[in-house]
Amino acid sequence: IRLTVIILFSVVLIPASVSFYGPDPEQIKAKPGENVTLQCRGSKDDNVVMLRWVRPDLESRGYVFVFRDHMIDEEAQYEAFRGRVDLRDPEMKDGDFSVILKNVRISDTGSYECYVGTNGNKPKLINNMSLKVEYPGAGGAEGLTDEGWRRVCDSEGCDVY
Ligand SMILES: *[C@@H]1O[C@H](CO)[C@@H](O)[C@H](O)[C@H]1NC(C)=O
Ligand SMILES: *[C@@H]1O[C@H](CO)[C@@H](O)[C@H](O)[C@H]1NC(C)=O
Repeated sequence: IRLTVIILFSVVLIPASVSFYGPDPEQIKAKPGENVTLQCRGSKDDNVVMLRWVRPDLESRGYVFVFRDHMIDEEAQYEAFRGRVDLRDPEMKDGDFSVILKNVRISDTGSYECYVGTNGNKPKLINNMSLKVEYPGAGGAEGLTDEGWRRVCDSEGCDVY
């Protein structure tokens, strides 16, 4: 009986603890040139004073997207993201802090964190997701790798020159 109880407990507890302690960040895949929505949903009652999208893996200063003092702050943005990031809902109604990253590049691969600051509160991490931009294995795509090599893909796979 005791053994049965232990087994039952492990079956019930292990999956629960795995998903509680080690949530995989949300993964998005895209092809170069596509527009990608980076999801971020807060409480719809939030009175937002600051919204910040961050790429923690980029070393130099700058953000993916910054909204503060009632406006979008393009000065604070990494140059590579300027003109490529829009709010999905410009009014951020119902806690929708998602942004659309347009014309994605291989170098956009990485993690994206969404921080929201409401009146009187410190900015809080709402979502953390990872984006992977890559050429499809098939379909005749051609382009440049991040290192500047020419990359040509066909139905057999990709070659780098
Ligand atoms: C991405 O969005 C821009 C602006 O909204 C649009 O002009 C363009 O056609 C979109 N590209 C794709 C691949 O959907
Ligand atoms: C977000 O996820 C990335 C990749 O898993 C991780 O390196 C980073 O530390 C996470 N950020 C936070 C604030 O937890």
